[in-house]
Amino acid sequence: MQIHEAIAGLRAARAGAGRVALVPTMGNLHEGHIALMTQARSHADQVIATIFVNRLQFRPGEDFEKYPRTFAADCEKLAAAGVEHLFAPDEAQMYPQPQTYHIEPPPEQANILDGEFRPGHFRGVATVVMKLFQIAQPDVALFGKKDCQQLMVIRNMAREFNLPIEIVGGETVRAADGLALSSRNGYLSAAERAEAPRLFRVLTKVVEAVRAGSRDFPRLEQGVMLELQASGWAPDYVALRKKLDLQLPSAHDSGLVVLAAARLGSTRLIDNLEV
Ligand code: PAJ
Repeated sequence: MQIHEAIAGLRAARAGAGRVALVPTMGNLHEGHIALMTQARSHADQVIATIFVNRLQFRPGEDFEKYPRTFAADCEKLAAAGVEHLFAPDEAQMYPQPQTYHIEPPPEQANILDGEFRPGHFRGVATVVMKLFQIAQPDVALFGKKDCQQLMVIRNMAREFNLPIEIVGGETVRAADGLALSSRNGYLSAAERAEAPRLFRVLTKVVEAVRAGSRDFPRLEQGVMLELQASGWAPDYVALRKKLDLQLPSAHDSGLVVLAAARLGSTRLIDNLEV
């Protein structure tokens, strides 16, 4: 695997690479990331992974500084997965001067759900992903459904800017007990780790209730909020939404997804399930 720290080096490698798939990450790679790499392989001749912890998408007080950085182990995993190129720029490479132009996703997509609790987050994500797209010029790019709102924002950005890039979603990879794999799971204490799969379980119950015909969405959401609170969580939201645009569904809508974000101790976890 070739490791590129400089944009020029990556561009030179990309020039002769045929059909290219891009998989952006912030590192601390787990099986969820690697599944995206494997899926990428089936879409392209060469896979470019990126590792960059993007300051723009973190708010002051969030975990930018303590975000786990495990570069050597990440390189081993990517090489074992057969990834041809890793783009791992430093901040001076990505932001040689402060970024003054930004991609501003519309408020109805960026200020709801996670965006309500992390103002500016999706602007930071969209801006860095647009930069990575311009740098790597992939034919296809893969993102996990675990970050459902992020995938929607990037899909819409690609469409509205006529980017010649196919956006592909990868299924959420989970631990055996249902917990969605996440770099942030490493922050959990042993007791919190044992409690954490509750998030998946309560979302599963919502899916089952909706499939069984329940249409009182606010009551279902409220029930899950209360159950999480009773188990020591601080939920930000539990929301049944339309899968396509994450807007509020009416009772007869199908194609739904239930999303949740909740803090367990000081760790904020998100998850979602398609109904
Ligand atoms: P990161 O959290 O490192 O995730 C990189 C990619 O892996 C994202 O597309 C994410 O949705 C996917 N992913 C994470 N956990 C997953 C799981 N359990 N199963 C399947 N896919 C999973 O998301 C980001 O980085 C950043 O916001 C980024 C897009 C790189 C922009 O900075």
